[in-house]
Amino acid sequence: MTEKITTSEGQPVANNQHSQTAGKRGPVLIQDIHLLEKLAHFNRERIPERVVHAKGAGAFGEFELTNDMSKYTKAGLFNGVGKKTRVGIRFSQVAGESGYIDTYRDVRGFAVKFYTEEGNYDIVGNNTPVFFVNDALKFPDFIHSQKRDPKTHLRDPYMQWDFWSHSPESLHQVTILMADRGIPASYRTMHGYGSHTFKWVNDHGEVFWVKYHFRTNQGVKNLTDEVAAQLASENTDYLMDELFQAIEVGDYPSWTLCVQIIPYEEGLNYKYDLFDVTKVVSQKDYPLIEVGKMTLNENPQNYFTDVEEISFSPANLVLGIEVSPDKLLQGRLFAYKDAARYRLGANYDQLPVNKSLNKVNNYERDGFMQANNPGGSVNYEPNSQGGPVQDETAAITPFDVQGQVGTYEYGTDHYSQAGDLYRLLPEDEKERLVQTIKNNLGQVDNREIQILEIKQFYQADQDYGARVADALNIPLEEIQ
Ligand code: HEM
Repeated sequence: MTEKITTSEGQPVANNQHSQTAGKRGPVLIQDIHLLEKLAHFNRERIPERVVHAKGAGAFGEFELTNDMSKYTKAGLFNGVGKKTRVGIRFSQVAGESGYIDTYRDVRGFAVKFYTEEGNYDIVGNNTPVFFVNDALKFPDFIHSQKRDPKTHLRDPYMQWDFWSHSPESLHQVTILMADRGIPASYRTMHGYGSHTFKWVNDHGEVFWVKYHFRTNQGVKNLTDEVAAQLASENTDYLMDELFQAIEVGDYPSWTLCVQIIPYEEGLNYKYDLFDVTKVVSQKDYPLIEVGKMTLNENPQNYFTDVEEISFSPANLVLGIEVSPDKLLQGRLFAYKDAARYRLGANYDQLPVNKSLNKVNNYERDGFMQANNPGGSVNYEPNSQGGPVQDETAAITPFDVQGQVGTYEYGTDHYSQAGDLYRLLPEDEKERLVQTIKNNLGQVDNREIQILEIKQFYQADQDYGARVADALNIPLEEIQ
């Protein structure tokens, strides 16, 4: 039997087609409670979109451990071959709003939530192993430069390159963005990275530095600017659509999770600063070790509750996984849960998609939309009433710090890894890279910014700088 419509508090609704009026042609009555409720709720349907990564697609699936990692970490999800953990994932564009075109050149977000028996563990990464800036203090300025001009409300290459040319630490990531990986052909055909260096701790208290790599099993595929522009005119939601359709027909995408493990002391003395997120750790120095396989086999049932309401944070850690002193990461530990409280409310963690599998026990109470206050129980700690107590086995691993309080930069070599990357690219990709930079930096009506940026390319690799200078008709003498 077809179910009957009710009001949101369960009363039957007699007419969902015509509002109550005073007579056939009379005005609408304020006593039409169903009408008022329907209009009022509709006005409140939108919540603030994510301040970055607003456009995205989600899916669910499973992570299966294929290589026991207990030698390096006591984290349950990485212990015991064959162990399966449910995952929720959200892929995203970074700069645009929630209706943004999927095939624009941009970094893509790659956020994974592992629903473990010991609490939620999130790897909130991108499809690139590095980032534009390496101090959280610069993040809001960086994002402002990529978003809309405050006067024209247009995105503006001037702002983007103005920031980048004055922030040489961005060079490595700018090179990745302008090269082929700047427009993935599908969310399924890109790698994902944890980007930062994290800490793994084993049962004996031994500590290792770790870098995460999700390697796509579909092969890396990208789009040229021309194909991307064509797709943009045909389907603004191309990537979201493509992922959904693949999962719907059972063509489940998968990634092999690998890690680089760096012994603790060695990491502190590595040739690049391990905590500078603009740098990669060479796979020649620390090869990839396979950990497991992540398969996405379930589409969201409801976009709003499964994808819009999902909330990731690098601060969602489990026992055996800790943070590093990376300054960008440290800022992110605050930013995401703060954003969730603003976007979804103080009790965002009670939403079904964010709820942990294990029981939540603490003395946080009340707040908007609270649904989990334990009935009648004690709401302070310590107490004599048998309330939950702290778990000392969860203490962080102690580590030494030294030096003076101050404001420091990571170093001034912003160039060698960008140069290494350029030299690794095949000739045809180098040509496309230079062309893409020409198309973008060429729109900046400011020779000083162009020269400043080309100087960075030149410092990374003389051929790189010279080719961009030539493409923009800037004499080499002005760069050298
Ligand atoms: C989303 C802040 C750097 C990956 C967000 C959000 C904020 C934020 C506030 C929106 C969260 C929400 O409303 O749910 C920051 C800050 C950064 C930073 C302050 C630097 C200090 C990074 C880096 C990466 C990254 C380095 C990747 C390595 C992501 C992803 C999302 C996101 C994937 C989307 C998560 C989702 O799908 O819900 N970021 N971010 N961010 N950020 Fe960052």
